[in-house]
Amino acid sequence: MLSRSRPSDTITYLEDGDWAVLTRAICVIYDSKGAVANRETLKSGASSLLVDKANYRHFMAKEIYEQPEVVGQTLARYVDMAAKRIALPFELPFDFNDIRRILITACGTASYAGHVAKYWFERLARIPVEIDVASELRYREAPLRKGDLAIVISQSGETADTLAALRYAKAQGLHTISVVNVPTSTIARESKTVLPTLAGPEIGVASTKAFTCQLMVMAALAIAAGKGRGELSDIDELKLVGELIEVPRLIAEAFAIEPQIEKLARDIAKSRAVLYLGRGTSFPLALEGALKLKEVSYIHAEGYAAGELKHGPIALIDESMPVVVIAPYDRVFEKTVSNMQEVAARGGNIILMTDATGASEATVDSLVTIVLPDVAATFTPMIYAIAVQLLAYHTAVLMGADVDQPRNLAKSVTVE
Ligand code: F6R
Repeated sequence: MLSRSRPSDTITYLEDGDWAVLTRAICVIYDSKGAVANRETLKSGASSLLVDKANYRHFMAKEIYEQPEVVGQTLARYVDMAAKRIALPFELPFDFNDIRRILITACGTASYAGHVAKYWFERLARIPVEIDVASELRYREAPLRKGDLAIVISQSGETADTLAALRYAKAQGLHTISVVNVPTSTIARESKTVLPTLAGPEIGVASTKAFTCQLMVMAALAIAAGKGRGELSDIDELKLVGELIEVPRLIAEAFAIEPQIEKLARDIAKSRAVLYLGRGTSFPLALEGALKLKEVSYIHAEGYAAGELKHGPIALIDESMPVVVIAPYDRVFEKTVSNMQEVAARGGNIILMTDATGASEATVDSLVTIVLPDVAATFTPMIYAIAVQLLAYHTAVLMGADVDQPRNLAKSVTVE
């Protein structure tokens, strides 16, 4: 195919083995045998307005602040707001009653969204969930049961390991669902069922708004699964959906903590390492908080299940160690407080992220207590994500790091 240069809103997908000669003036595509190939061109709906920093200093800040809106848009795609019922955008080609196990796979931040969702599917739908990072899943020859469900999660839809994991699950005869942000991506195109996140273009290398949108989709899917399996009644659904509908507003309210986080970032910026702890769905959020901090500020950070503290990481704790404890007032709050006591006894500097009840019930002194809005216990990760994202962002900015393009990282990891 020989053509004049096109505006950047046209897309041509290459097939396996294709290669192209691209100049300012022309694009010629050849197939694997070297013959000129005629590949279809499509119009992209992407708008350049959406890839502008607007009044923000960095894309990462803009994308953090877009969350009430984009999470709200994602919610509206999955929920009948008037009836307060889940209304998935597509009919699923299987019955949740036939699914014995769900496999969730993804990389990095997207895998932590999957990790949170494991708790939701198991609690709300009583389906066992296995979660594995795609780079491990694709090579460990996991025995998978035909007819079960695999869910892959990806912002870009181009992550090589996630794509390979999707292909593996398909080849094993599993139903597959992809939760993808870029609708024209390879993963979306290779998936029979695509559940879109409506985060819009995410430019900052560190994933922020895609994460909370992935959580929203997974929450809706977990409720649909619970309903489909008879584990949730109509009343349960009404209650849970009512709670989900509150999430965008609560995310917006969570930004009230920003001045406090900016102040805290000055201490964190002087730290050599930071520990993040959480239990239940706050555990994957601790992993996400640590990842966010290390990738944009280059400060070493680790996330742990709070109960694991005494099995090793407690040895790290001294007066120089900030420990971020993510502990909304939920059914495991008391347990997390007892872990905080272990940290306090060793002189660690506790940064407690909790709600008003948690702040008044915590019996341990913290260096800083960050009080987030009250949110239904099931859905706290979508609100607490704002706190860990802002902490990473402000710490990195103070340290002069290139927050939108951290060293050694690429937005889309298309190689192994
Ligand atoms: C971290 C981050 C990465 C991505 C991971 C998967 O902030 O952005 O960990 O989450 O590379 O990328 P996607 O979601 O595009 O498959």
